[in-house]
Formats: sequence, structure tokens, C-alpha cells
Amino acid sequence: MIDVILGLQWGDEGKGKIVDWFAKNYDVIARFQGGPNAGHTLYVDNKKIVLHQIPSGVFHSNTENLIGNGVVLDPVILKKECNTVSSFGVDLKKNLFISERTHLILPTHRALDKAAEISKGHLKIGSTLKGIGPAYMDKTGRNGLRVGDLLDRNFTTSYIKLRLKHQKLLDNYAFTEDISSWEEEFFEAVDFLRQLNIVNGEYFINEKLRQGKKVLAEGAQGSMLDIDFGTFPYVTSSNTISAGVCSGMGVAPQKIRDVIGITKAYCTRVGSGPFPTELNDEIGEELRRIGNEFGATTGRPRRCGWIDLVALRYACMINGVTSLVMTKADVLDSFADLKVCIAYELNGKKSTEIPFQMEKAKIEPILKSLSGWKTNICAATDFKELPLNMKSYIEFINQYLGVPIHYISNGPEREQIVKVG
Ligand code: GDP
Ligand code: IMO
Ligand code: MG
Repeated sequence: MIDVILGLQWGDEGKGKIVDWFAKNYDVIARFQGGPNAGHTLYVDNKKIVLHQIPSGVFHSNTENLIGNGVVLDPVILKKECNTVSSFGVDLKKNLFISERTHLILPTHRALDKAAEISKGHLKIGSTLKGIGPAYMDKTGRNGLRVGDLLDRNFTTSYIKLRLKHQKLLDNYAFTEDISSWEEEFFEAVDFLRQLNIVNGEYFINEKLRQGKKVLAEGAQGSMLDIDFGTFPYVTSSNTISAGVCSGMGVAPQKIRDVIGITKAYCTRVGSGPFPTELNDEIGEELRRIGNEFGATTGRPRRCGWIDLVALRYACMINGVTSLVMTKADVLDSFADLKVCIAYELNGKKSTEIPFQMEKAKIEPILKSLSGWKTNICAATDFKELPLNMKSYIEFINQYLGVPIHYISNGPEREQIVKVG
């Protein structure tokens, strides 16, 4: 059976920490979408590590880790990550597997991403500049190169052919930056990647399932960044929701058991696009400061706001979320008044649904006030130790969403997590 852990907001909900914490109960951890746009932070031996493409279970010696076909993989970033992970004594020969169907991010994909973002006529998505959009465009456009192609003698020829196509697009953007050093790095990293365990991912994972092994699928980004259901066009280019697990790994939907949704106790977003509960005031700044809300991949300051229950309920519906983990609850410790968004005023009318085009609608969040707990909860290890007002905050969210919060994360460290009840 497969359990899924995914983000329900606009990413950075703390998936890395939670996957690392749950990983000990699983045999295989797998990424099924996204690429190095993800930055998943975890702590090992009190050292902070940010993983981009390698699943966050990799530090548990008894797990195997799969990069599924739904991921877009940058060999250069993978090589760096592998070196970091190996320096902790992890044997990647033993526990990292990469699907041969996984599409490659090429240097020209990164160039195209950058060219689009800086071009005057182009919509500013505020992408991570990792080449994600262009790589997925080549996948759906049936041009892309895959990890399995690296084992073909003609790989370089295929690369040159595709590069020529990309060059035309880059010329259209009048992009003139020299990317030859990126290409040099790329080909070095490709040699490194060829030495790793390249497998048929769908047979690999289904064989594990047949053996009764427990699989944890690790989402990247968040549901509101999903290509279909997020705040389009301000989204990423993959299906970040639970349905992406099936196509991103080659598994049947009946194999999925629990869908564990991660939400912060408040809300953040990095990059452009609608964010109804955003706080452009000193409260927003406080959240950013206390929550240290700066991107793990790009270092950009994250936009901050109150928890948005309209968006969360939508995400629970789309994903079939069976239980919730609330992270960064400790960040709210010092706030006397807390607010939760229970509805939108949409072009003058009250609604509890996500509209078709969020960026075009005039959305005012309808907020409910709840009392803060004004207590430091960082050291709590048992639900009984948590303040009453915090329990009321949790209970209100449970009731609104109709899905229970089962764990509360009360700090960035591995053991800072409290089971509810
Ligand atoms: P991810 O992309 O969902 O894995 O999340 P990120 O790693 O990008 O961002 C989450 C940030 O919050 C990281 O810096 C984590 O170390 C940190 N973090 C995770 N859980 C908690 C928590 O419960 N409290 C606090 N204060 N920080 C947390
Ligand atoms: P994790 O897995 C937060 C955002 C970018 C941009 C949009 C499109 O760490 O939660 P892309 O580079 O994917 O084309 O950018 O999506 N974005 C993320 N925001 N966390 C992430 O990943 C993100 N990955 C992409 O900022 O707005
Ligand atoms: Mg992140």
C-alpha cells in the first residue's frame, strides 16, 4: 500500500521534515512530480539539509528511495545533492533509484525559463528559474529526453538536435547569455548519473507493493500550485495533488491508502499570483520574521498571511485528504489575536468556493477571530501540554475541514512533533 504526504497550500508547508519523520515506518519513499524547484528542509545530526530532488527518506538506512517518472530531473543539481547526502554516510548505491522514464532538465530549459521570466511581453510567474516549465513543455510536446536515453550511444546527438530547437526559441526571446559552462557541468553530471541505479520505475515500485512493502509518496510544491487546480496561470507545471501519484510512479489508484495533507498554521506563498489572506502589514512581517519565511530554493522572502480554510477545504476535497499535519504552530505562539479565513467575499458576494480565475476576481477574505495562546509550545512533547486556546484553534479547523489534524509540528527539529489526542 501507498500513503501520500503532500502540501495543501502554496508549497513550503514543511513536507521535508514530516516525510523524514514518518519515513522510519516505510520501506520506500518516492517523489512523483516536480523537480529542483522543490526545497525540502530537514535536520540530520542537528545539521540543516535542503533536498531538491532526492526523497526526504534518504537518511534512514532501511529505506529505498525512488525518483519517479513524473519528476523532471536536473543532473547537475542531483550530483550536488548526492555529494551532500553521501557525506553523511548514506550509501546511494544501495538506496537511491531513478526511473528511466524521468524527463531530464537540460541547460537550455533553465535558459528558457530565465528568458521567459525576464522577457517584457511574458507573464511574470516568479518561477524558481530551474527550468521546470520548459522541461514539462518538452515532455507534453513529445520532445523531451529521459534518463533512460542517457544509456543510448546517440544521447549527445539527440541533445544537440533538441538544443537547436531551443536555440530558436531563445533567439526569439533575444536571450544572449552564454550557457556553455552550464553545458559543461551538465555533461559531467550526466556521466555521474549514468553510474546511479537507473531502473524501470513502474516495475520497481509494483514489485515492492507485491512484496507487501510500505511506500510513502512525497509530494512537492502544494495543491494551490497544481497545474489543473491551482491558481492558474500562477502555478507550477505538474499535478501536485494525490492523483499525480498514479501517473508519476505508475501505480494504480486502489493502492493508495492514506493521504496526509500538510498545512502550516498560517499561510505563505513565494512568487507571483493570488493570495487572498496575504498580510501586507506588520503582522505579515512578524510571521515572516518569526517563521523565518525565506525560500529554501531561491532565498526569496515568502509572502505571509492567515490560514485560508476555503483553500484548504478545496485542497482536502481534490486530494481526498484523510488526515492533517499542522506545521509551524509555534510561529503563532506570540500572537494575541489569530484570524482564520472562513469565506471569501467574491465580487461583493459571499462564497466558500475557489473561483475559476482567482486573479481576476476581487476577493476579500472573511475572517474569524480566535484567541491566541501566548505560550511557548516549542518544548511540548505531549498533547496534554498544549494550551487550551491552541486546542480550540485546532478544533475549529477540524470542524471546518471535516478532516482531523493528527499531528502538530512545534519546531523545525526532527523530534518537535506532537501527536493529537
Ligand atoms: P517544504 O518545501 O514543504 O519541505 O518546506 P520548506 O523546507 O521549504 O520550508 C519549511 C521551513 O520551516 C523549513 O525551514 C523548516 O525547517 C521549517 N519548519 C518545518 N516545520 C516547522 C515547525 O513546526 N516550526 C518551525 N518554526 N519551523 C518549521
Ligand atoms: P516545495 O516543494 C514554494 C512556485 C514558484 C512560482 C511557481 C512556478 O519546496 O514546497 P516553477 O519554478 O515551478 O515553474 O515556479 O511555483 N514554486 C514553489 N513555491 N515551494 C515550492 O516547492 C515551489 N516550487 C515552485 O515560486 O511561484
Ligand atoms: Mg520548500
